[in-house]
Amino acid sequence: MKRPLNPTSRRKRPCRMPRIAAAILLTALTAIAAPKARADEGMWLPSLIGKRIDDMRAKGFRLTAEDIYSVNKASMKDAVVLFNGGCTGELISPEGLLVTNHHCGYGAIQGHSTVEHDYLTHGFWARDRSEELPNEGLWVRRLVRMEEVTDRLAAGETAEKICEEAAEKGRYRTAIEQMYYGNQQFLFVYEQFDDVRLVGAPPSSIGKFGGDTDNWMWPRHTGDFSLFRIYADRENRPAKFSRENVPYRPARYFPVSTKGIREGDFTMIYGFPGNTQQYVTADAVAYVVERSDPMKIDLRTRRLEIISAAQEADAAPRIRYAAKHASIANAWKKWQGELLGLQRLGTVAQKAYETAFARWAADRPEYAHLLDSLRAAYRSATEGYYLQELCNESVKGIELATLAAALKQYAAKPSEALAERIAKLYRDYDPAIDRRVAVEMLRGLEQYHPRPLPEAYTAETTRCKGVEGYAARLFDASAIVRFDAVEPLLRDTAALRAALQREPVLHLVGIFDRGRIPRNLSNLPAVERWYRPYMKALREFDRERPFYPDANLTLRVAYGQVAGYWYADAVYHRPLTTLDGIIAKDDPTVYDYDIPQRLRACHAAKDYGRWSIPTADGGVTVPVCFLATNHTTGGNSGSPVVNADGELVGINFDRTWRSTMSDLQFDPAICRNIAVDIRYVLFTIDRIGGAGHLLKEMELR
Ligand code: ARG
Ligand code: ASP
Repeated sequence: MKRPLNPTSRRKRPCRMPRIAAAILLTALTAIAAPKARADEGMWLPSLIGKRIDDMRAKGFRLTAEDIYSVNKASMKDAVVLFNGGCTGELISPEGLLVTNHHCGYGAIQGHSTVEHDYLTHGFWARDRSEELPNEGLWVRRLVRMEEVTDRLAAGETAEKICEEAAEKGRYRTAIEQMYYGNQQFLFVYEQFDDVRLVGAPPSSIGKFGGDTDNWMWPRHTGDFSLFRIYADRENRPAKFSRENVPYRPARYFPVSTKGIREGDFTMIYGFPGNTQQYVTADAVAYVVERSDPMKIDLRTRRLEIISAAQEADAAPRIRYAAKHASIANAWKKWQGELLGLQRLGTVAQKAYETAFARWAADRPEYAHLLDSLRAAYRSATEGYYLQELCNESVKGIELATLAAALKQYAAKPSEALAERIAKLYRDYDPAIDRRVAVEMLRGLEQYHPRPLPEAYTAETTRCKGVEGYAARLFDASAIVRFDAVEPLLRDTAALRAALQREPVLHLVGIFDRGRIPRNLSNLPAVERWYRPYMKALREFDRERPFYPDANLTLRVAYGQVAGYWYADAVYHRPLTTLDGIIAKDDPTVYDYDIPQRLRACHAAKDYGRWSIPTADGGVTVPVCFLATNHTTGGNSGSPVVNADGELVGINFDRTWRSTMSDLQFDPAICRNIAVDIRYVLFTIDRIGGAGHLLKEMELR
């Protein structure tokens, strides 16, 4: 089902990539000495964008800080939403039309798909408003305003009071978020909409074109978009789903540019990046490079090999494990790129900055101890964090553990929704695959766990004569492997609780699981407490450096430009792909590359209408994806990419995998985000979806 189009899909050696050009290495190395925010690094707070606006305008931006963020008048921020807690979306019409990625709308599209109406495979286009499909549980959030409240909190006001006041009697949702490890606090006030309907989605063969094979790769040809509409009550206020609701009229929406982009053009991305750690010390980077990433990559490689083999052997697991494979592989590939990037940049060995800081701090008693305190904190906290990460990737990589956890949750608090989720987990479950995974995960656990292993664990493996025997017992002595056995228990929670008491996989989890961990090692309270003064000190020490707070799923602005990059010696990756590249990849025998017949026909007839662009050899084609230098991360999927005039030119959906170390260190020579060109989106809606009526409500420029 996969062809070795790129080195990652070659089995056995998933980590190898060609060596990067020496020239890039040199630029990267010279940049290390002073890790200043260079070029296009940075995820800036919109309310403070005034401090960056001169730089933005020098780089081509033609609008003002007020156009980006304003509390007094409509601004771009009113057209950007947090989409269901993990992605970004943007408004593109005065009637609440919203666009995000296909992979962000995937759950909703899948939820409406049945054998008769398989929208994932064939796409979905509402012909009019009455056909737009409601989505239970799907929400979007718009930022009403944000405000620094550090001083108010310091003066003794409580967070509860500040939030309650800002919520205006339940009209808004509020949160106080920490910036710079708590040196500054910001209040965020959101308006949440719960009636969000599906309007359109391309077939997966466009929206997910290239699948996991092309994921994190360039050149890319994915039409990764889907369309929704926000509905509100007659006063334009958020409301629960109702047929009485009407399309939301946003204060601001993005005009759509049909003029296209060229290398060097200014780009701005406005969205909700989730998590970065730009200011951590070498110890934290060493943890990622030497322990965490290698362990997680290896365990996932082993899991994926078992799943892929089963998928290749049989059609049923190919479908049932498609989504699971995609999500396991997504982070797996990202970590490989991150590891490679950090090794290449030499981020761990980069002590010069810390040495300089130490020298500066030496005669400042309040700061002099900080690096030592951080080092000591890492020394005592790292092992516990590592063991929990190991547990999450190994023991909890066994699906039976996931099933048991869901059942345990159900036994404590049964609900219709949870029962439905559990039934779905079982529909996609193949115990034969999971048994093989379990053996491999126990082997991995033993390999990565420091000695001695917990006694409770060795007691089990001794009793079962090794890991194979123990893995077999997890299944043979289990009461929850088959749904026919579980189903009656869902109606009798006392019996379910009793069954779970004896469940061997829960005993295994109990030996290793120490509960939730913060998103990064450095966010463990014992470590983070030192980052707060360290961050404060850094900002005094390095006054020239333009600091921006780490991503934390709050709204940010990143700016840069459309740009290719040197992929390898003599190999330059140009920033724009076209339909011709899709046709070159097209292969009806390969699932990820089997395009819709309609697209083939369109290409054969060169029937592109207004979406055609000239090729170098005098022909015509359609633009598809482009690369830019914007600093983005997970959560930025679906973010608007706008040009110097604030017009929508693309929708962000990925980075190249070599870019992903930008979560810790941004390298302007290599880091590139990937967007789908808005012209390909319009072309697909118009020519493939036959939904040209949707274009009429947009402001095309
Ligand atoms: N790599 C992108 C991100 O991290 C896209 C993931 C979805 N696509 C996929 N083929 N799994 O979200
Ligand atoms: N694909 C990511 C997302 O879904 C974006 C990234 O990591 O660059 O948010």
